[in-house]
Amino acid sequence: MDYDKKLVWGPSMSVNEEKIDEQHEKLIEQINKMIGILSSLNVDIGSLRQASHFLYTYVKEHLAYEEGYMQSAGYPRFEEHKKIHQDFIQFYKNFQGELKKEMSSPNFSSLEIEKLMQQIKEFLTNWIEHIKKDDQEYAEYVRNSQGA
Ligand SMILES: [Fe+2]
Repeated sequence: MDYDKKLVWGPSMSVNEEKIDEQHEKLIEQINKMIGILSSLNVDIGSLRQASHFLYTYVKEHLAYEEGYMQSAGYPRFEEHKKIHQDFIQFYKNFQGELKKEMSSPNFSSLEIEKLMQQIKEFLTNWIEHIKKDDQEYAEYVRNSQGA
């Protein structure tokens, strides 16, 4: 399956907080890297394992930082936003569980890779939607409260 529409971070996704913007850019980059590994003809298990572990750690680190930022800004929809983050973690954990299962099976079939690829692409699309919509809402809140 081709992946011609590579999704990347762009300034329109900015939340006006340098560190969060950097993290978002890196996250998108790392998910794309994972897609790249899965799309190669001979999937390299070592790289896959490394990318999967890195992404999990980074996702958690980023979400914790963003939650701290929202909380210290007194964002009123914090709890609701945090719930969405928990769903992202859950989604990733499921993906990682399937990935581990496939990696330990003797024949890593193209059908299984295709399935994993669909999941991680969905993860990326959902995350970009989240940055464009939910994250923009706290960014706007911070902007307005600073201007007041
Ligand atoms: Fe968020």
